[in-house]
Amino acid sequence: MKILQTAQEMQSWSREQQRQAKTIGLVPTMGYLHEGHLSLVRLANEQTDVVVVSLFVNPTQFGPNEDLDAYPRDFERDRLACEAAGVEVLFAPQKRDVYAEDHTVYVTEEVLASGLCGKSRPIHFQGVLTVVAKLFHLVLPDVAVFGEKDAQQIRLIRRMVRDLNFPIRIVGGPIVREADGVAMSSRNTNLSSEARNQATVLSRTLEVVATCVEEEGITSVQELRSRADAVLATASLGELDYLEFVKDESLAPFEEELSGDVLVAIAVYFPGARLIDNRVITVPS
Ligand code: PAF
Repeated sequence: MKILQTAQEMQSWSREQQRQAKTIGLVPTMGYLHEGHLSLVRLANEQTDVVVVSLFVNPTQFGPNEDLDAYPRDFERDRLACEAAGVEVLFAPQKRDVYAEDHTVYVTEEVLASGLCGKSRPIHFQGVLTVVAKLFHLVLPDVAVFGEKDAQQIRLIRRMVRDLNFPIRIVGGPIVREADGVAMSSRNTNLSSEARNQATVLSRTLEVVATCVEEEGITSVQELRSRADAVLATASLGELDYLEFVKDESLAPFEEELSGDVLVAIAVYFPGARLIDNRVITVPS
């Protein structure tokens, strides 16, 4: 496995693959890899000839009081995991390799980015789209794979690819969960053991909501919120950021009654980490 760091090294490697008519798969990550990331690498491997994993904790997607410094990092562990997963290139740039010191150009999206995580993290998606656009230019992938856990992120990336005409196919990888239902996340490592135990509240809330809709036929947002509140109250360390019911692709909120494909998305602050999770539910017609 090659480890590349600069934009020039990365682009020349990718151009060489293109000369050899090889398709390139990209799995963008911020490192501290877990089974969720490795499942994305497997998906990329199935669909392309060579796979690049990028590892870059992107500063522009963190707000001033967020966890940029506390974000877990372990390069050696990530290197070994990528090697074992059959990755061809680990692209691990430094900040200076990605951003000019006086950079002033960003990619912004003005509709999908405004709700859900965009409310409490106002600059987050601008940072994500900017770095992902840069990675697309640096790695020149045919296919890029993102986890469905970041539901709003992957919808925004699809929109960017469509609106900016990137010749790249976006593939979503299903959420990978721990045995107790908690969605895998690098941030889980920053939770105390008590908070980690209580982190099941996200998947438990989604499960209760899905059962109410799919088995009891409840479609009232108000009723679903009150059922969800009873579950949320069991996690004393968790503070709800949001629980939202939105249209699956447009992310427009349902105000009263659910219908069609509904993305139920939740974010909860725990001491040490803010966790997110989601589930798509189809309301029986
Ligand atoms: O999902 C992530 O880990 C990040 O937001 C991404 C896509 C690698 C961009 O920094």
